[in-house]
Amino acid sequence: MLLSQVEPKDSRTLSPSLYLLGSSSHLRVKVVRETIPPRIDTANLVIRRWSEADAALLRAAIDSSLDHLRPWMPWAVQEPASLDDTRARLAGYSAAFDAGEDFVVGLFNREESFVVGGAGLHRRIVDDGLELGYWIRSNQVRRGFATEAARALTDAGLALTGVHRIHIHCDPNNVASRRVAERLGFSLIEIRPSDTTTPLGSPRDTAVFERMTEVPG
Ligand SMILES: CC(C)(COP(=O)(O)OP(=O)(O)OC[C@H]1O[C@@H](n2cnc3c(N)ncnc32)[C@H](O)[C@@H]1OP(=O)(O)O)[C@@H](O)C(=O)NCCC(=O)NCCS
Repeated sequence: MLLSQVEPKDSRTLSPSLYLLGSSSHLRVKVVRETIPPRIDTANLVIRRWSEADAALLRAAIDSSLDHLRPWMPWAVQEPASLDDTRARLAGYSAAFDAGEDFVVGLFNREESFVVGGAGLHRRIVDDGLELGYWIRSNQVRRGFATEAARALTDAGLALTGVHRIHIHCDPNNVASRRVAERLGFSLIEIRPSDTTTPLGSPRDTAVFERMTEVPG
């Protein structure tokens, strides 16, 4: 069977579905899951799916923020990566986004001339939930950008079929991250004692914040 006979025109907008790839003797089944919108415009930000062409802008944001990110973001300890590695990483994010598997997005200023930060909605907690993460470039903090992005992404995540809860997992000592969760109406549901380590390897607790879909009535 030919792909063109079965592939929907815009698979990114569909609910989870299956379609067939290849010739009749070598059929493969590809699972296509629903995605959040590839671009969300808010008052001060463009929140969008990464593309490889963003590599230089992303590098500038990370490279200027290493001291700010390293205490909280495990991946920042491995930075700085090369431009080529950054392109490859962005290609991976784009592919996972299009497959509806994982939604890592860039936060840009309205003109998209620089990267304000990054965020992600990850399918790595319970089946009906997504974990939200975020970081803001060091020279852009305390302007409400994390709150603005997290609000839009929470709404986008909760709009997905079958998603009923968004979690934010953070180090209880990360006051700024906790404040983002609290401002957006997330509830602290659990402190998991010593269940992980800081990016530098010391044991630490995890504060689990949750916001659920509002149940009518
Ligand atoms: C956490 C982070 C994303 C917050 O970004 P931000 O854009 O500065 O956050 P906002 O401007 O939306 O502010 C949200 C709240 O946090 C507070 N806040 C921000 N930075 C703070 C700080 N350093 N200390 C105390 N409170 C802080 C703000 O005052 C605001 O609270 P308020 O409404 O009570 O005033 C940013 O500090 C960051 O990138 N940190 C490093 C990466 C990180 O920790 N990511 C989260 C991992 S769970």
